[in-house]
Amino acid sequence: MKPKVYVTRKLPQVALDELKVACEVTIWEYESPAPGYEVINDQIGDKEGLLCLLTDRIDAALMDSAPHLKVISQCAVGYDNIDIEAARVREIAVGNTPGVLTDATADFTFTLLMSAARRINEAISYVRDGHWQTWGLTILQGQDVWGATLGIVGLGRIGQAVAKRAHGFGMRIFYSDRERKIKIENELGVKYVSFDELLRVADFVSLHIPLTDQTKDLIGTQEFDWMKKDAILINTSRGQVIDMDALYAALTSGQIAGAALDVTDPEPLPADHRLLELPNLLVTPHIASATTSARTRMAQVAVRNLVAGVQGKPLIHAVHD
Ligand code: GLV
Repeated sequence: MKPKVYVTRKLPQVALDELKVACEVTIWEYESPAPGYEVINDQIGDKEGLLCLLTDRIDAALMDSAPHLKVISQCAVGYDNIDIEAARVREIAVGNTPGVLTDATADFTFTLLMSAARRINEAISYVRDGHWQTWGLTILQGQDVWGATLGIVGLGRIGQAVAKRAHGFGMRIFYSDRERKIKIENELGVKYVSFDELLRVADFVSLHIPLTDQTKDLIGTQEFDWMKKDAILINTSRGQVIDMDALYAALTSGQIAGAALDVTDPEPLPADHRLLELPNLLVTPHIASATTSARTRMAQVAVRNLVAGVQGKPLIHAVHD
């Protein structure tokens, strides 16, 4: 008999087909709406494996409803939605999908950076709303990217991939991190500075850190005060690393020039949220890794982690030992 697994969202067909070879699969067939906590809790009782997304809260109580659970396979690199310690003490393996989404996410970081610098969302509305009457020297002026200073907060895989792209734009690159990474610094030609120094000097600040107790609200009123008045903040990590009220205040008071966010708090951001009224804010719906190839490879890695876990083998990418 094949091991039973539950999958909380529609998967690319190639990954689902691979999973069905090894497991008896119950799946929430839809992209949206997401299954609620109760649905996952109801489904998990007789399952040995769970494949979930970053929007699914996987806590200790849910694990207690799953006496047979051997593996939680997160189809994402970040896993702040999962209580890792609860899984560890219950000897449930947890996997994630690093690596395969690095380049897609770094490309998208640059998409946001360039779009915010050159006010693309305002320019699109300008044309659509019929304001485009003539060519003018003073309309929709943005900021230079070429030669600007980039501050990368978190020089992990994605931060490093962003640094590589930044060289192509002649940028001066600074980074801050929990620890200095001298070998990578030398390879990539980036300079280590303290977090507050980075905020003081950067024209563009890009966040590439996981959400933890230490990084929650990392960017708040004090940090916006340190930033340059013409700075632009880019976030493709997790929404909760920015204090959204402080961001609103910084954007409306001119404390910083703009922001581009692929992640928000709350997420999804309601369409009538006051942040969405601001012309100097660009928001996308958490799509930084959304290329067909990256999302397919994420699903394949998640499936392989899941199958390895139910078979009692080491995961390809394990979050804890
Ligand atoms: C996306 O945000 C991910 O963590 O993979």
